[in-house]
Amino acid sequence: MNQSEITVMHVGSLIDGNEVTGGGRIRHEVRSPYNGELIGVVDFATREDLEQAIQTAHRVFQQTMKKMPAHQRSEILRKAADALEAQREDFAHLLSREAGKPIRDARGEVGRAVQVLRFAADVAKANDGELIKMDSAVGGENRIGFARRYPVGVVAAITPFNFPLNLVLHKVAPAIAAGCTVVIKPAEKTPLSALKLARLLLQAGLPKGALHVVMGTGPDLGEPLVTHPLVKKVTFTGSGPVGYKIKQLAGNKKVTLELGSNSPNLVFEDANLDAAISSIVTGGFAYAGQACISVQRIYVQRTLYQTFLDRLVPRVASLRVGNPAEETTDVGPLITEEAAVRVEQWVQEAVENGAKVLTGGKREGSIYHPTVLVDVKPDMKVVCQEVFGPVVVVIPFDTEEEAVSLANASDYGLQAGVFTSDINRAFRLADELETGGVWINEVSTVRQDNYPYGGVKRSGIGKEGVKYAVEDMTEVKFIGVKLL
Ligand code: SIN
Repeated sequence: MNQSEITVMHVGSLIDGNEVTGGGRIRHEVRSPYNGELIGVVDFATREDLEQAIQTAHRVFQQTMKKMPAHQRSEILRKAADALEAQREDFAHLLSREAGKPIRDARGEVGRAVQVLRFAADVAKANDGELIKMDSAVGGENRIGFARRYPVGVVAAITPFNFPLNLVLHKVAPAIAAGCTVVIKPAEKTPLSALKLARLLLQAGLPKGALHVVMGTGPDLGEPLVTHPLVKKVTFTGSGPVGYKIKQLAGNKKVTLELGSNSPNLVFEDANLDAAISSIVTGGFAYAGQACISVQRIYVQRTLYQTFLDRLVPRVASLRVGNPAEETTDVGPLITEEAAVRVEQWVQEAVENGAKVLTGGKREGSIYHPTVLVDVKPDMKVVCQEVFGPVVVVIPFDTEEEAVSLANASDYGLQAGVFTSDINRAFRLADELETGGVWINEVSTVRQDNYPYGGVKRSGIGKEGVKYAVEDMTEVKFIGVKLL
């Protein structure tokens, strides 16, 4: 990390390439979730700042971005990828500090973000539509038809704290690839990585009015951003209640919602147990379980249940908990102490109703120790709601049908994991599980950034994964020619 980032940063919103600070703007402190250390001071945007950002984004879309050739948009994204890769350590330390993410995981996030930019650079140059076979219709002879994709215009992006870099890029990179402009409101707990990234994109050649970062809270800025008539598409990652409110506010705009889950992971008696346990230990506790696809409900075939627990529990108990800056830390803090207290209360409530803690069940400030619960009931919050913390529940099942029915008994449906060595069973389950994605012999927590990602049920609407996000940031227009 360079010296300038060890000192406290004082930043503001990035509007039309200028950082906007002072002038009586509300001042907000960004503090380490681990030890409360002051990391940054952020001046929130005013409504006027937001208006300027949206108006400029609209003008730059009309005048520049929608006319910019694909090779130029691709080149900006490629240059940004190279620059991010070169500054990988700086970004990793910054996001580790502001999000409390263990440094090894933070490096992993930067590595993914570099790939997102490279995928976007490729997608920008990919085909933008298709040729329609016009003479399939009676009377369609001597006609040529095209379905072409056009960028929608200004995209409003609202992003969460848990992946302060990569989830920003999952919105910004496809928007650039599509030829849109963006106004982004990052989470107020982790705004610094987003700002650093925006500066990097401008340095890579993105026109300064094509990307604006507005700092502030949901009620103050999120609502006017989402409802603004010049905004044509809203893309949000975060909690269900906020997501569905945004959908209501957005009216007839295009909306993508990436929301939460209580992801099921199924372990059958024919599974490779070593592989299953290793993946589950990582997938249940990485970044203290603060991912929408984190392993939460683990269903294990009864014949294997005790062996599974005997092997899982010591592995979870040996995870190193503590300072996210240390190379050896596996599990750091939750984003705030209140978040850790909520997890503690949910576990206590489960225990009062008969659940047993096999390891963990302890809080120290913002840290909640990796916890394995058994003897849980379907209506306990740790089972039926999204924990978003380092807690997994392990539940036995007897038959495949029962496993599927338990896994599907959820309001959510984002990703699932299945561990089995039976290929037929694997594909049956892929068909049966009510989720937006199914991994075989891998946990639900894994996400590769080029596949369609997004939930069903209350886990969201629409898909990300660069190519799929681009589809949602463009409109298909038909163009027909009659040959005379
Ligand atoms: C999320 O938690 O919303 C995304 C998880 C990921 O990208 O790995």
